[in-house]
Amino acid sequence: MENRVIIGGQWGDEGKGKVIDALGEGYDWVIRYQGGANAGHTIQVGAREHVLHLVPSGIFREAVRCYLGNGMVIDPWALRDEILALEEQGVRVRNRLHVSSAAQLLMPYHKRFDELREIQRKRKSIGTTGRGIGPAYQDKLARAGLRFGDLTAPLEKLERAAIEHILEANEVLAKTFDAEPLPAKVLAEELVVLAQSLRPLIVDGYSALRGVREGRESALFEGAQGTLLDIDHGTYPFVTSSNSTVGGALTGTGLPARCLGEVVGVFKAYCTRVGNGPFPTELRAEEGEQLRTLGREYGATTGRPRRCGWFDLVAGRYAVGVNGLVGLVITKLDVLDALPVVKVAEAYDLDGERRDDFPIRPDESCRVRPVLKELPGWEKPLGKCRRLADLPANARKYLEYLERSLGVLVVGISVGKSREQMVMTPTGVTA
Ligand code: IMP
Repeated sequence: MENRVIIGGQWGDEGKGKVIDALGEGYDWVIRYQGGANAGHTIQVGAREHVLHLVPSGIFREAVRCYLGNGMVIDPWALRDEILALEEQGVRVRNRLHVSSAAQLLMPYHKRFDELREIQRKRKSIGTTGRGIGPAYQDKLARAGLRFGDLTAPLEKLERAAIEHILEANEVLAKTFDAEPLPAKVLAEELVVLAQSLRPLIVDGYSALRGVREGRESALFEGAQGTLLDIDHGTYPFVTSSNSTVGGALTGTGLPARCLGEVVGVFKAYCTRVGNGPFPTELRAEEGEQLRTLGREYGATTGRPRRCGWFDLVAGRYAVGVNGLVGLVITKLDVLDALPVVKVAEAYDLDGERRDDFPIRPDESCRVRPVLKELPGWEKPLGKCRRLADLPANARKYLEYLERSLGVLVVGISVGKSREQMVMTPTGVTA
């Protein structure tokens, strides 16, 4: 089986969870490599809807092993809760989920800093998920953080180290934010209890992924967030703190480039963004509200209403280029079923000049206006379509247009929430 990396092509929430679940069958591993519990991957299995924040979406395929890579920042409290919730639903997690000893521990003070910094930023707030992601990566880069491997230390040593870190954080809370301290002893004791239950999951990443490195085992890499939220290549500073573009899969696992296989981008048939920052095709007022209602566009992690807009080819071409995408999966096409007209941004207008490339400078990306093309809608329900030939002609034309404009084959189309509501098109959609 060819390895694959699944990347969000837009601002996250593209439906990667469903795509990974659909494609995950047959892989030895499904691997997450960046981000943390800021992600919210929604998967419908049978009548049940599951939202995963940390555990890879491959967990619902019995034969798949799941891995959380060194590039992640993991809240052990949240991980324990997620494992317990899955086990309560009858999903076997133990012996199937492995965590790199080099993954960063995201501590309660990171979440507190995240909240307080957002308040401090006032009108310039990023609109983070409040999961502590930025501050945890900050500690990682400052070489000051704890890692999952530290959970395997003698318990007294772990407790001492945790208390030290929490007390240091408490100083910053008091001095910088004039905020209440966190209960160091209580949290450190909790961490010691967590360590005992999480220890069996912790592995040395180099050895655990040896089979993938040597080509004996296959892997599907599960990207979180999306290209335009990448810390380096996204709409900085309105981004997350990790590399959500393809490079993250290398640094976040320690695997060499030849192990990644093909890179597939997941795009919604329109665009959404949660949090602040530039969004050139955003629809305001009623039009935005209509898409939000049709697509039930509320954040899986925070419940916030998502901003909604038309498909953006400029941003799409950028995602294709940055990640080297060789396939596209278009999700939520059925959300557009009722619309008489569907619009797409072909280019931008920046101060009267046409721009075909995504402007990465924030002063430009927040000023561009979309140059929109209109396509006729299909005004028929797509939920029961399973083959390309089942799709109405105008839906196929829309997909052909996206395929041609992005220069990459559309290899899959999602037409509803359930696992079965997928149309696989390995040779593309253009007749
Ligand atoms: P953080 O990752 O919580 O620091 O949030 C930074 C930005 O990324 C905010 O705009 C968030 O709304 C956005 N973000 C983070 N994770 C996701 C995700 O999984 N889906 C969509 N947006 C996300």
